[in-house]
Amino acid sequence: MMPAATVKAGSVPLYDPHLLHQLDWSQNSVTFSPAISPADPGDGLVLRPLCMGDINRGFLKVLGQLTETGVVNPEQFTKTFEHMKSSGDYYVTVVEDTNLGQIVATATLVIEHKFTHSCAKRGRIEDVVVSGECRGKQLGKLLTSTLTLLSKRLNCYKITLECLPKNVAFYKKFGYSVSEENYMYQRFFN
Ligand SMILES: CC(C)(COP(=O)(O)OP(=O)(O)OC[C@H]1O[C@@H](n2cnc3c(N)ncnc32)[C@H](O)[C@@H]1OP(=O)(O)O)[C@@H](O)C(=O)NCCC(=O)NCCS
Repeated sequence: MMPAATVKAGSVPLYDPHLLHQLDWSQNSVTFSPAISPADPGDGLVLRPLCMGDINRGFLKVLGQLTETGVVNPEQFTKTFEHMKSSGDYYVTVVEDTNLGQIVATATLVIEHKFTHSCAKRGRIEDVVVSGECRGKQLGKLLTSTLTLLSKRLNCYKITLECLPKNVAFYKKFGYSVSEENYMYQRFFN
């Protein structure tokens, strides 16, 4: 059995979970059939902020279905988690299958602070991924809707994301449109 202190640290959420249940779900631009919501994502499922202990619940394995995660040891995970938590601007959100004790989907909202637009905030959706065996069960829609509404509730003046052309139709469902601006990048490391 794990020591009490370890259990406690593992269940610390990255951000206030109440935020997810205070969203006005009626403002959704997508329909869910059967109906699901942040408070009720489906049988045996919970939508919640990332917790420190999710490193042991397959969180990185799910992220690895989107991109290369590399080797992440518990110290690195903890350091990054604590940095994100203390900044208050990272809303890494997960769906856990509570029967399996495994993370099955995740998406992140990051808040960027600007001096422009009267010191406004801009939201960015990142790292949306549903584990292979759970795709097509509305979890991608649930996470994207939730984080889009959350950005509005956090008073972001706009929200953006980057995606492959094959996923454009998915994000259009939530009111996103293709920008005329180009997405430019330089890669320094793999
Ligand atoms: C894209 C992804 C997140 C969608 O999640 P999901 O849980 O399988 O999708 P959902 O069940 O919530 O959504 C289903 C709806 O979206 C549509 N949809 C799903 N993937 C789509 C895609 N790539 N393009 C267009 N529509 C898509 C379905 O047709 C369905 O439409 P409907 O509600 O009108 O019937 C998931 O397929 C995934 O993890 N893909 C790999 C990682 C990835 O590419 N992530 C996006 C990074 S930008």
